[in-house]
Amino acid sequence: MAFRDTKSKIIIKTPEQIEGIKKSSIVAAQTLKAVIPFVKPGVSTGFLNKVCTDFIRDHKAIPATLGYHGYTKETCISVNDVICHGIPGSYELREGDIVNVDVTTILNGYFGDTSTMFAIGEISEHAKKLIRVTKECLAIGIRQSIAGNYLGNIGYEINKYATSFGYSVVYEFCGHGVGLKFHEEPEVSHVADKNSGPKLAPGMIFTIEPMINAGKARSKVDKKDGWTARTIDGKLSAQFEHTICVTKEKPLVLTDIDHEFEIPKEIF
Ligand code: MF3
Ligand code: CO
Ligand code: CO
Repeated sequence: MAFRDTKSKIIIKTPEQIEGIKKSSIVAAQTLKAVIPFVKPGVSTGFLNKVCTDFIRDHKAIPATLGYHGYTKETCISVNDVICHGIPGSYELREGDIVNVDVTTILNGYFGDTSTMFAIGEISEHAKKLIRVTKECLAIGIRQSIAGNYLGNIGYEINKYATSFGYSVVYEFCGHGVGLKFHEEPEVSHVADKNSGPKLAPGMIFTIEPMINAGKARSKVDKKDGWTARTIDGKLSAQFEHTICVTKEKPLVLTDIDHEFEIPKEIF
């Protein structure tokens, strides 16, 4: 996929801004942990949204999706064949479902954005593998987030890895610059040509949020609600998202409060 030359529009954050974005990112990440005890069969996605909303507000933050381009809820909750932008509501989770919860916070004007997958009860081996590979895709993208590397190598490596399992990578929704606004430059495609796009520099902050489909890559947006994006073949889709800051050394994963995606310093 071709990139526009958008380098000049990519904001280089100051140390003070990075601190602010980090604090917001931590609240977003903590929200995903706060919801864990409630994610089980019989619970509605609307209730999970309420748990997240209460947590965000209790931590003096604002849910960024509410009112964003007319979106009416505080989180996105995407079940099974929903790729992204699932609207929380009356659907009650069932044993075997896979669910993505996506939280974006605004704290003191700074944005943090993260999402994770949950399994409802016992899920199929096939669903487990899709979730595992999708998480690995995010880790692979993070490893490419090094100053001097090309932005396109994030998508290049993710796509190479996901397709090696027969999966497909969603190209109609992307990661994005984040921090001072919800969606900033650059667009972070999860499918890209090797060595394409702008070069990464310290102080750039963006999300990587691969959406990996078990079947075809294409999506269709629900005509009635205008948001819910589903796989065209009805097969499963999974997604993980982190907010990443490029530095002179290894990437800082601002939303990774469990240090799951930390890269050993030795390899830099
Ligand atoms: N949080 C999503 C992202 O990762 C965006 C949701 S926009 C909404 O970029 F309007 F659908 F909420
Ligand atoms: Co995002
Ligand atoms: Co998000």
